[in-house]
Amino acid sequence: MSDVSADSAPGHCPPGHCPPDTGDRQGRRRAVRHVIRALTREDIPEFLSIDQWAFAFDNVQKAAFAKNFAESMDWDHVYGVALADDAPHVGNYGWIPFSLAVPGGTVPCAGVTAVGVHPLHRRKGCLRAMMQHHLTDAVEAGRVVSALFAAEMPIYGRFGFGPASQSLRLTIPRGAALHPLAGSCPGPSLRLEIADQERHLDELAECYEAWRVRRPGSVDRVEHAHRADPFIDPPESRQGTESLRVLIAEGEQGEPARGYAIFCRSLPGKGHSGGTVQVKEFIARDPGTAHTLWSALVDLDLMGSLRTCPLSLDDPIMHLLVDSRGPKPEISDNLWVRILDLPAALAGRDYAAPVDTVLEVTDELIGSNAGRWHLRGGPQGAHCTRTDSPADLSLDVRTLASAYLGGHSLGALAEGGLVNELVPGTLLPASTALGWPVAPFSAWCF
Ligand SMILES: CC(C)(COP(=O)(O)OP(=O)(O)OC[C@H]1O[C@@H](n2cnc3c(N)ncnc32)[C@H](O)[C@@H]1OP(=O)(O)O)[C@@H](O)C(=O)NCCC(=O)NCCS
Repeated sequence: MSDVSADSAPGHCPPGHCPPDTGDRQGRRRAVRHVIRALTREDIPEFLSIDQWAFAFDNVQKAAFAKNFAESMDWDHVYGVALADDAPHVGNYGWIPFSLAVPGGTVPCAGVTAVGVHPLHRRKGCLRAMMQHHLTDAVEAGRVVSALFAAEMPIYGRFGFGPASQSLRLTIPRGAALHPLAGSCPGPSLRLEIADQERHLDELAECYEAWRVRRPGSVDRVEHAHRADPFIDPPESRQGTESLRVLIAEGEQGEPARGYAIFCRSLPGKGHSGGTVQVKEFIARDPGTAHTLWSALVDLDLMGSLRTCPLSLDDPIMHLLVDSRGPKPEISDNLWVRILDLPAALAGRDYAAPVDTVLEVTDELIGSNAGRWHLRGGPQGAHCTRTDSPADLSLDVRTLASAYLGGHSLGALAEGGLVNELVPGTLLPASTALGWPVAPFSAWCF
């Protein structure tokens, strides 16, 4: 463990033994000084202990989680925060160098994960200290954007992150009818097996990678442990479900699988019907595969309903279902994005239509992003350069992040008061250009 930045601070007790920071008698918060430290694999027990407290997860899951966690983190970028030089750390986070798919390409991304602060030390500025550290660290490492899944919506906007994609979950009744596919779209042949890392990991990873490059918002699974994540299934935490199964849509000779579903079934009490199919991960690379996999999953004997994993908003299931109102779609935020290097980010994606606009961007935390930017480009690429020309549109970096993957239109964000059209008539073409026909989505919550 080594200090990478330091302030000074009161408090020398380990996490779990300090009284909460109640402030002085007038209710003013005491000044707290934060020390950020680089952690190593030797710090895994303390790291996990803080995350267990922060995320309220059960000890029985610890062994499987800890093993995979230790292997999945990039230990060049895992940090703890302490409240004094010689005090133990009370919060931690890490980031993983991913490649993020964006419209028409990929950009270097820092995937923030495992952000947690011990409950006795919350609201003392530990997260703010970690986020300020992260923004500097990731910019220095040449990352163009940062991305994360937010445990709660109100946390990350203040640090310039914007909700950039959404997901959909459905509860589909057994036997729900699907429209036949239009035209000729042959379905693949299927294999149904007990999910087994040794046997299936490489095959499924290849399919995931072939799928994700066309899906803005998705990240590569860099480490073996990332690819193994969907297989983690400790028996102690199954709560009456069977072990994980995998339904694989086979590819042509020498081609990656066309799709797969990792899922498990459970039956209520001593019942012999009315069970639930829970889908943990679903990937389909073409419409015939989506139709074949969903048809099989919604018609398993003894099951009453199927609960999907998070899906993209444009998942084909919404067009395949005859009654798409029946499953009561639940929409949630998915990936949050923070633009770290604005010109590289905007030049790193393609645009759905020609764009030639000047954006005035505010950014309270990364000064080099703030100012006026001339964005020119179209479906074949783009340039983004600093300019003194008058701006067409003005917006905060957080709002630009929400529009960046094409998931939220500038027009809708303007309707919400988050984009100002300074020159009449410039919003519509810019909004059209930043849109994208494939909804952004990460199938993997890291
Ligand atoms: C969320 C969490 C990391 C915040 O850490 P923290 O050290 O208490 O946060 P800070 O004291 O640095 O707060 C920074 C700001 O964020 C706000 N904030 C922090 N957590 C918040 C939350 N859950 N909801 C709304 N605002 C929050 C604070 O009020 C503060 O606001 P300010 O800028 O107006 O002063 C911590 O409470 C935690 O570990 N929670 C459980 C696990 C979790 O949710 N982790 C995040 C995973 S994505």
